[in-house]
Amino acid sequence: MSDLKTSLLSIQQEFKCQVLSVKTSTEADSLRVRFLGKKGELTAVLRAMGSLSAEERPVIGQLANDIRSEMEETLSSHLSGIVAGEKAAQLAAQTIDVTLPAKPVVMGGRHPMYKAIDEICDIFLGLGYVIAEGPEVEYDHYNFEKLRIPKGHPARDTQDTFYITDNILLRTQTSPVQIRVMENSKPPIKIICPGKVYRSDALDSTHSPIFHQIEGLVVDQGVTMGDLVGSLQLFAHKLFGVNTKMRLRPHHFPFTEPSCEVDLTCWSCGGKGCRVCKGEGWVEVLGAGMVHPEVLAGCGIDPEIYSGFAFGIGVERTAMGRFGIDDIRNLFENDVRFLRQFK
Ligand code: PHE
Repeated sequence: MSDLKTSLLSIQQEFKCQVLSVKTSTEADSLRVRFLGKKGELTAVLRAMGSLSAEERPVIGQLANDIRSEMEETLSSHLSGIVAGEKAAQLAAQTIDVTLPAKPVVMGGRHPMYKAIDEICDIFLGLGYVIAEGPEVEYDHYNFEKLRIPKGHPARDTQDTFYITDNILLRTQTSPVQIRVMENSKPPIKIICPGKVYRSDALDSTHSPIFHQIEGLVVDQGVTMGDLVGSLQLFAHKLFGVNTKMRLRPHHFPFTEPSCEVDLTCWSCGGKGCRVCKGEGWVEVLGAGMVHPEVLAGCGIDPEIYSGFAFGIGVERTAMGRFGIDDIRNLFENDVRFLRQFK
């Protein structure tokens, strides 16, 4: 028989011998390459088959294929035992200590101002108010005109803002939401509206060109100033404690009549006078009043039948009092070292 057959049989013998000493999957791989790979011994024999006669070629070809399949089977059954053993050894060596403390998850916290907004809203939600919303980019019509602040009115000077066009601006107060709500719903109305407002004020420790207000509006039959005072008193007690006193100072807002500004006893000194309240013992937190009859009528609500009160709480000031923060800029700079304290 041909040399090729002899080579095939000796390759087969050699493989059988070698495979017995294979102990690891790496060794199994190199054996596969050596015998069955593209440049392997068996492949070399198959390449040489071109020189065989037409009768010999199928016979040798068949033998080569049989040997190849036998080798593959032997190798893979051998390998599966090896792999299982290796896996078991690996598992035994790599124990996992499930009692080790986990890596801490870095969690953010709620911003102190939003904490204050949530606390204030919760108080009013508990009194049956619902949350209303309005746009921050507002029409002059809603921000001023419908609130009885026509063009040229001096109240516009104190609320200078950023204009998009002559008639569209960044709202200076949340009061336009009162108008939007009254135009679109019938009394009884009982809403609060937390939101951002804008004024072109210079930044200092108590002023920011962006700040937040929480507007409140109640309209129904027989609503009085007594209801306003009672609601605000309850708000002050819930937020700052029952020893907090409230003081109403007469004021003027074009859209409420009568109007007042509301002070609370200083949360820092309890009313004795300190740096926070600039020695006064009181801190102003909101503006309020009875909704002006012309404002009601302008929204299609008959002031002969209905009355209402409204208030606007300054959120930053309240948050600063609530959390003992002495500079408004801390609320906007978002330095994590500052924010972390309120987690
Ligand atoms: N919008 C007023 C302000 O920004 C506050 C206010 C609201 C006054 C509601 C009365 C009623 O100063």
